[in-house]
Amino acid sequence: MKNVLVTGGAGYIGSHTCVELLNAGYGVISIDNYSNSAPESINKVKKITGKNIISFNCDIRDQNKLCEIFSKYNIDSVIHFAALKAVGESCRKPLSYYNNNILGLISLLEVINKFGVKKMIFSSSATVYGNNPVPYSEDMNTGNVTNPYGRTKYFSEQILSDLYFSDKKWNILLLRYFNPIGAHESGLIGEDPNGIPNNIMPVISKVAVGLLPKLTIFGNDYDTPDGTCIRDYIHVADLALGHVKALEKIDSECGILECFNLGTGKGNSVLELVNTFEKTNNCRVNYEIGDRRSGDIAVCYASAEKAKKHLNWEAKYDLERMCQDTWRFQVNNPNGY
Ligand code: NAD
Ligand code: UFG
Repeated sequence: MKNVLVTGGAGYIGSHTCVELLNAGYGVISIDNYSNSAPESINKVKKITGKNIISFNCDIRDQNKLCEIFSKYNIDSVIHFAALKAVGESCRKPLSYYNNNILGLISLLEVINKFGVKKMIFSSSATVYGNNPVPYSEDMNTGNVTNPYGRTKYFSEQILSDLYFSDKKWNILLLRYFNPIGAHESGLIGEDPNGIPNNIMPVISKVAVGLLPKLTIFGNDYDTPDGTCIRDYIHVADLALGHVKALEKIDSECGILECFNLGTGKGNSVLELVNTFEKTNNCRVNYEIGDRRSGDIAVCYASAEKAKKHLNWEAKYDLERMCQDTWRFQVNNPNGY
């Protein structure tokens, strides 16, 4: 059995990916400092899969602890989710973001390198495309990013590329996620951020159950059919399966550096998302139209062709299913984990 080290394994995308890795027969070692998650999500992963997952409370900047873990387990590859991810907060606390996301990446890479693992899947983001025309394709220029969080993703991609060109024995896949929403069909794991959510879906579901008074839609004067922003929402379970496909790719090839979009290739507006959520779940989402949020772009969606062709992966769940699964998690876990 091949062992995969998953950083940020207790987080939203990490926990769903742990489920799919365990289901696919991998051994999983999760490390997380629980800054934006809870150890309970790991217990839920065990419950869903009926399989064991080894987990450590460990910060990726703690090289001593990382070395202990690498010495103890025969780790074959690393999926690196651990990062801070709130765009607004990154503008207020850029140094925390550079410290966590960039120093964290370097710390992890130094240890991986020392132990000769050289296989890494990195969580990047559609944000690296900046203001390119849609659909975003992997061959477009990146780096025209408008906030510190996005720049940590762009710089991380550059660091990983430099590493690859210094030693082509590395196998590195940069996965650029679009907008993950939804939850595992069991209703046991989902998006449970610490504090007030920043992303739209946890706000919608918390408003629908009455935990938040209303959703503020950030602007309805964009150049889009209904005036609200358009995003490529992708079910987190589809995204998680994309990582299993990515692992298969780095297991079967040697010396690759490639980036892939993980998106559906389809855009939906904020109002479409709210309406679909209400209709699918027979509930009400109280909202108001507010000002535009600084840094938002009008339209963002993927070209999903490269992943389909070279990872043999495509998203299969539609927006209704994303809304249903989010609702189930919210109703089953009104106070989070
Ligand atoms: P998340 O916050 O739920 O998960 C990240 C996990 O990493 C959390 O459990 C957190 O406690 C942990 N962590 C953070 N810093 C750490 C550190 N220094 N050491 C150890 N653990 C640490 O976020 P997510 O939505 O699951 O995102 C996972 C990755 O995907 C992140 O790298 C994020 O930037 C990227 N991403 C997310 C989205 C999105 O919309 N959710 C979109 C594009 C990219
Ligand atoms: N939105 C609202 N009200 C809210 C929250 C969001 O109207 O309370 C709107 C935003 O203006 C945007 C859309 O909902 O139009 C989606 O916003 P999110 O904050 O959920 O997501 P973003 O598109 O801003 O960014 C997300 C991740 C980034 C990632 C990007 C990739 O947060 O990490 O997707 O597309 F880079």
